[in-house]
Amino acid sequence: MIALIWAEDQNGLIGNQGQLPWHLPADMQRFKALTTGHHVVMGRKTFAGFKRPLPRRTNWVLSRQPDLKLPPEVHQLADVAAIQTLAAAHPDEPIFVIGGAVVFAAVLPVADYLYRTRINARFDGDTWMPAVDYTQWQLVSQQVGTVDEKNQYPYEFDDFRRR
Ligand SMILES: NC(=O)c1ccc[n+]([C@@H]2O[C@H](COP(=O)([O-])OP(=O)(O)OC[C@H]3O[C@@H](n4cnc5c(N)ncnc54)[C@H](OP(=O)(O)O)[C@@H]3O)[C@@H](O)[C@H]2O)c1
Repeated sequence: MIALIWAEDQNGLIGNQGQLPWHLPADMQRFKALTTGHHVVMGRKTFAGFKRPLPRRTNWVLSRQPDLKLPPEVHQLADVAAIQTLAAAHPDEPIFVIGGAVVFAAVLPVADYLYRTRINARFDGDTWMPAVDYTQWQLVSQQVGTVDEKNQYPYEFDDFRRR
């Protein structure tokens, strides 16, 4: 099962200068809870924005560069077909595709599940989620987030399964 997981603002913004445009610890906690112990697949640029590989997860970086230098514990995938092969080799567990925009656009056609965080605010940035045709997706779970001192924007978690 291939699952996309991302957070977007009300304009579909997802990134700014290689980083997330917001600070929303509740979303980070949900991301960690869902992905820990699993395979995470990310674009070369998203990986470059991390200080280190995501702990307690098997990190895969998508890149066309044959001579890309990665830490020894990080694996490379060359194309979307390789993600599908990875998913087929692990039929009982989700493969989380964690961004960014270029990777989401490439993988969306073969994804089975979407974990979307919608932040109901507007931010500045330079990277947007590609258009998703939600007529192809069934909302299976919706959870409104708690706004508090640490999480200052209204947000919700929406999960979709391909129809
Ligand atoms: N809000 C969120 O949930 C979220 C999640 C993740 C990332 N982000 C943000 O998104 C931004 C980065 O996104 P981005 O779109 O610029 O870059 P990206 O998708 O992270 O990485 C793009 C790179 O991935 C590789 N790649 C992409 N598609 C490929 C394919 N089909 N086959 C092989 N390799 C492929 C290529 O690497 P090579 O050039 O090496 O071939 C490409 O240059 C950052 O600001 C980050 O913070 C936000």
